[in-house]
Amino acid sequence: MKVGVFDSGIGGLTVVKSLIQHQLFEEIIYYGDTARVPYGIKDKNTIIRYGLEAVEFFKNFELDLIIVACNTVSAYALDEMREISSCPIYGVVKAGVLACENHVDDKNSNILILGTKATVNSKAYDNHLNTLGFNNLQVKATGLFVPLVEEEIYNGKILEATFEHYFQNTSNPHAIILGCTHFPLISDALQSYFGEKTKLIHSGEAIVEYLEQEFTFSQKFPEPKMKFFASENPEALRNIASKWLDIK
Ligand code: DGL
Repeated sequence: MKVGVFDSGIGGLTVVKSLIQHQLFEEIIYYGDTARVPYGIKDKNTIIRYGLEAVEFFKNFELDLIIVACNTVSAYALDEMREISSCPIYGVVKAGVLACENHVDDKNSNILILGTKATVNSKAYDNHLNTLGFNNLQVKATGLFVPLVEEEIYNGKILEATFEHYFQNTSNPHAIILGCTHFPLISDALQSYFGEKTKLIHSGEAIVEYLEQEFTFSQKFPEPKMKFFASENPEALRNIASKWLDIK
C-alpha cells in the first residue's frame, strides 16, 4: 500500500516513525505545510481549507490511503476532506481514543488530554471519550511544547519550568493522550515528570493499532520508499526527517 501522511509541519514525522517501525507500507509520501504552521492557533474554517488543499496535493499521487497525522486537522477537517478524496482518510483523534479504550480498563481513570488550543477547543477527544464512558478527563492546551520541540528542547530547565506552568494544578493522571504530533518527542520528560505508572498514548502507535484493526497487512516493508514534501523549505524538512527517522 502507498500512504500519504499529512501534517501542518514537521511534527507528523513522529507518526511516520511508527509507520516505519511497524513496516506497514511499501511507500510513504509525507507532506508538511511548513509555510503555514502552526495550525493549532488557527480557526476552524482555515484548518478545513488547509486540509482540503492537502487532499488536492495528494491527488498527484495514486494513494491507497491518507493518514492525517496532525491532531488539529483530525479534530476539525476529516469529514470535509473525505468528501473530496478518492481514497480513505484516517485521522489520529479516533485512533487515540481507541487506544485509550484498548489500554485503560477503568472508565473512571483520570485521563489527561494534551493538545493545541484548537484541538482542545474542538472537544474532539473529550466528546469521543465521554461517548465511550470515560468520565474523569482533564484537558490542557499546551501549545508552548510545539516551539520547544522545534528548538530541539526535549529535556532540561526550560521544559521543566513549562511543565510546572501547565501542570502545577493537575492531578496525577492514569493516562495521557499526547494529542499533538510534537509531544512524543518529549515523552521521556513527561514520563519522568508524572512517573512510570502513567501510560502515554502516542498518535503514531495509536494509528498503527487502529489500521491493524481495519486492514490485513499480509506483507512487511522494512525499507519503505519515502518522499518528503513541504510547502516551504523542503530541504529543512528532509534534514529533520533524516535526523528523527535515522535515514540517509
Ligand atoms: N501538528 C499539530 C497537531 O498535531 C501541531 C502543530 C501545529 O499547531 O500546527 O495538532
